Amino acid sequence: MNLRWRVDRLTRADVEAGLQLSAEAGWNQLPSDWRYLLWAGQGFGVHADGRLIASSVALPYPPHFGWVSMVLVTADYRRRGLATLLLQTAVDHLHALGLVPVLDATPEGREVYSRMGFVDIGLVDRWQGKGGGAALERSAEPPARYDALDMSAFGADRRHLLDELAGRPGSKMVSSNAGFGIARQGRRSAQLGPVVAEAPAVAGELVEHLVQVTPGDIVADVPRSADAVGQLLIAKGFMIQRRFHRMALGRATGFGDAGLIQAIAGPELG
Ligand SMILES: CC(C)(COP(=O)(O)OP(=O)(O)OC[C@H]1O[C@@H](n2cnc3c(N)ncnc32)[C@H](O)[C@@H]1OP(=O)(O)O)[C@@H](O)C(=O)NCCC(=O)NCCS
Repeated sequence: MNLRWRVDRLTRADVEAGLQLSAEAGWNQLPSDWRYLLWAGQGFGVHADGRLIASSVALPYPPHFGWVSMVLVTADYRRRGLATLLLQTAVDHLHALGLVPVLDATPEGREVYSRMGFVDIGLVDRWQGKGGGAALERSAEPPARYDALDMSAFGADRRHLLDELAGRPGSKMVSSNAGFGIARQGRRSAQLGPVVAEAPAVAGELVEHLVQVTPGDIVADVPRSADAVGQLLIAKGFMIQRRFHRMALGRATGFGDAGLIQAIAGPELG
């Protein structure tokens, strides 16, 4: 570990600086995403030249695991050990809480994480396409079993995240008695997810509905296991833009019931 750098704890005052890092990498986060991450999780950063040059966020999902998120290093400072340092800091934070670190890695990030002992536990495809013309509108009521279903699917109570995503201006939640899905706005595209459903046919209906009511560019991060959603997106003209490797440290399998997750909330959220 490089002792030259001092790791600072990020606060909500760092939202704008964090956004600059994620925008530089071409990522989709809005200020509201950083605000949520720095409220629900603990951000870490390294400063130089009077600016934030690198970040990570540890996002606890007690009682079993936590997400490592927003591992970013500005281009001029790469390959100097900063991602490794901030990854280790986030991992230490989660370990101190008794949580298994899990993340969704870009191919570049995977190089850093594998060296620390993270192993692949799944594959997520990022699909990109266009939505229908109908305007986004808030749906009135979430389904009655929404949080119980989500908890069995995800393996932790993330109700505050779902409320946050569904409650944003422009967000849309669709539901049936066997599943739900959320679409929200992003910096570059709308993001479709999470989608949780008990059966492939239900997943297909929810995703179809979300695509119809979401205007403009859409991305959806779909686990490779959610084959029905992939097939539906192909039929809608979507293409795979990139892949994320789901990885965990100290564990070879994921949490929850992966068969119920039809689209993840996002690689930074799980
Ligand atoms: C991925 C990223 C965070 C790496 O940051 P970094 O500070 O350069 O990483 P480190 O210096 O800690 O790298 C440690 C080791 O990982 C490997 N590594 C890091 N980046 C790599 C890359 N682009 N290609 C291949 N190996 C890489 C190398 O083995 C490196 O050691 P070395 O420099 O001695 O060869 C940075 O490139 C970045 O911000 N990329 C864009 C955003 C992104 O993809 N973030 C990851 C999200 S999961």
